[in-house]
Amino acid sequence: MIFAANFKTNHTRATTKAYIEALKEKLVAKKSEDKVYIFPPATALDSYTGDFTLGVQNAYTTQNGAYTGEIGLEQLEEFTIKTILIGHSERREILGESQELVAAKFAYFKKQDFEIIYCIGEPLEIREKGDKAVIEYLLAQFEGIDTSYENLIIAYEPIWAIGTGRSATADEIASTHEALKRTIQKPLLYGGSVKPDNIKEITTIRGVDGVLVGSASLDVESFSQIVLA
Ligand code: PGA
Repeated sequence: MIFAANFKTNHTRATTKAYIEALKEKLVAKKSEDKVYIFPPATALDSYTGDFTLGVQNAYTTQNGAYTGEIGLEQLEEFTIKTILIGHSERREILGESQELVAAKFAYFKKQDFEIIYCIGEPLEIREKGDKAVIEYLLAQFEGIDTSYENLIIAYEPIWAIGTGRSATADEIASTHEALKRTIQKPLLYGGSVKPDNIKEITTIRGVDGVLVGSASLDVESFSQIVLA
């Protein structure tokens, strides 16, 4: 199983360091085949070592240059970061990233051999239209994306389940993952209100290869419970 923690705009450099120190102790008990990823805010990137992979939540398609407010490859190379989240719904919806920009980021970081966790997810009004509408919507989010890329992990995160405390049901996750896997054979994570309470149910659903966790990853106790469940 893959367990990924997305801190979003939470934690500082100091609290991330303390978190990682505490997490390392907990991870001694994890199954060796399980993989843990941590995505702290960019200001907290550092050369951490341990039984986990450090990734970046976002970056721009450049080595360096005049892109005020962005970070590029040069800033990631300083900490040997080779893993990135692309296409998260918050970047698409709040920061206005178009499918075109998302695809350009994908192509750029693919060329740099990054491991890419590529996020897709539908809004509530699409979910309410039924399974067929959901799958059509999700597949459209692969426009311009090389789904055969070897370092690709996909994260299915229904937007209405993110940060709401309301996870998708086991049936919704199972049918969506099954339909996605018919088209794209890559590790597939579920994200959206994953927490210690529902982790066992979610990871036993067929077609779920791991989870991407936001809110419940912020506390190291809670995230460790998820990893060790
Ligand atoms: P959540 O966020 O766990 O707070 O729902 C998940 C995500 O956005 O990756």
